[in-house]
Amino acid sequence: MAALQEKKTCSQRMEEFRHYCWNPDTGQMLGRTLSRWVWISLYYVAFYVVMTGLFALSIYTLMWTLDPYTPDYQDQLKSPGVTLRPDVYGEKGLEIFYNVSNNRTWTDLTYTLHKFLAAYSPAVQEANRNCSSEEYYFQESFEAPNHTKYSCKFTADMLQNCSGLTEPYFGFKEGKPCFIIKMNRIVRFLPGNSTAPPKVDCAFLDIPPLEVAYYPPKGTFSLHYFPYYGKKAQPQYRNPLVAAKFLNIPKNTEVIIVCKILAEHVTFDNPHDPYEGKVEFKLKIEK
Ligand SMILES: *[C@@H]1O[C@H](CO)[C@@H](O)[C@H](O)[C@H]1NC(C)=O
Ligand SMILES: *[C@@H]1O[C@H](CO)[C@@H](O)[C@H](O)[C@H]1NC(C)=O
Ligand SMILES: *[C@@H]1O[C@H](CO)[C@@H](O)[C@H](O)[C@H]1NC(C)=O
Ligand SMILES: *[C@@H]1O[C@H](CO)[C@@H](O)[C@H](O)[C@H]1NC(C)=O
Ligand SMILES: *[C@@H]1O[C@H](CO)[C@@H](O)[C@H](O)[C@H]1NC(C)=O
Ligand SMILES: *[C@@H]1O[C@H](CO)[C@@H](O)[C@H](O)[C@H]1NC(C)=O
Repeated sequence: MAALQEKKTCSQRMEEFRHYCWNPDTGQMLGRTLSRWVWISLYYVAFYVVMTGLFALSIYTLMWTLDPYTPDYQDQLKSPGVTLRPDVYGEKGLEIFYNVSNNRTWTDLTYTLHKFLAAYSPAVQEANRNCSSEEYYFQESFEAPNHTKYSCKFTADMLQNCSGLTEPYFGFKEGKPCFIIKMNRIVRFLPGNSTAPPKVDCAFLDIPPLEVAYYPPKGTFSLHYFPYYGKKAQPQYRNPLVAAKFLNIPKNTEVIIVCKILAEHVTFDNPHDPYEGKVEFKLKIEK
């Protein structure tokens, strides 16, 4: 019987709930008085304001220490990587094999060069400056339009006989092919000292001396292309290039050629990165 007495009717429950929501005797709402509700709300508002403030402050200090004009995490890059065009990778690195008498084996190679040099046309480089000084081009302020810095022109014609303009086959047809050597960018990197620009030096890995014609002559990357200030500061920047035309490649023989960058601050003896400061490749010209 006791259990039956404790059983409440539906209307009783509703009444209790209403009483809980608003108790006119004690002035309590949902179990608390109005002033206590106000205090609790204020407490939570203050709590969230402080937390949001701390969060915003930490984000702000993080952003403030990051310079949008220089990328982070490039500390380990002390010496630039070097890339080669045309680039065909075999099982063990770069391997460029072709047959002079069969133009199907080399048209893709020359196409790669034409495509690569399309970014070096005068039209693409129009916004860039004609630089003639043989010194570093330091720019601390942002004087170019849209808060950027100027970049120096490097146009394909500077590669003369290896530009694809005077001779569209880049020497592949005659067995004296041109290869284009590019040094990767490192922000604010100064490769040489103020008197010696970085220079490309290509040689056979083995004995016979390799005859090379370099373009631009002397095979140097002029100092006015350095330092590079980053993609945001120099959106129009193009890496300078050096082309090497090999004049005495023996036919039907596989040779290994190494092109190094000679400069005071470029190293090429990192055992963990074979493409740091140099590029090594196999070349075989058949006929
Ligand atoms: C390639 O060779 C074929 C036949 O040997 C010739 O018809 C064609 O014009 C050549 N193409 C080039 C780009 O030299
Ligand atoms: C840069 O050099 C090119 C070719 O020599 C010339 O046509 C152009 O007018 C020069 N531009 C400036 C801004 O001097
Ligand atoms: C500057 O930026 C505006 C808007 O992005 C663009 O239209 C204009 O061509 C830029 N000017 C130069 C010189 O790049
Ligand atoms: C470019 O090639 C032509 C024809 O082979 C040659 O006469 C000239 O000396 C070469 N130019 C340079 C700068 O090597
Ligand atoms: C600059 O570097 C070149 C070659 O790396 C070296 O021969 C020359 O002595 C250096 N000059 C100075 C002033 O350090
Ligand atoms: C190169 O191509 C020519 C013509 O297709 C062919 O006669 C010759 O045997 C090829 N050379 C080699 C070493 O495969």
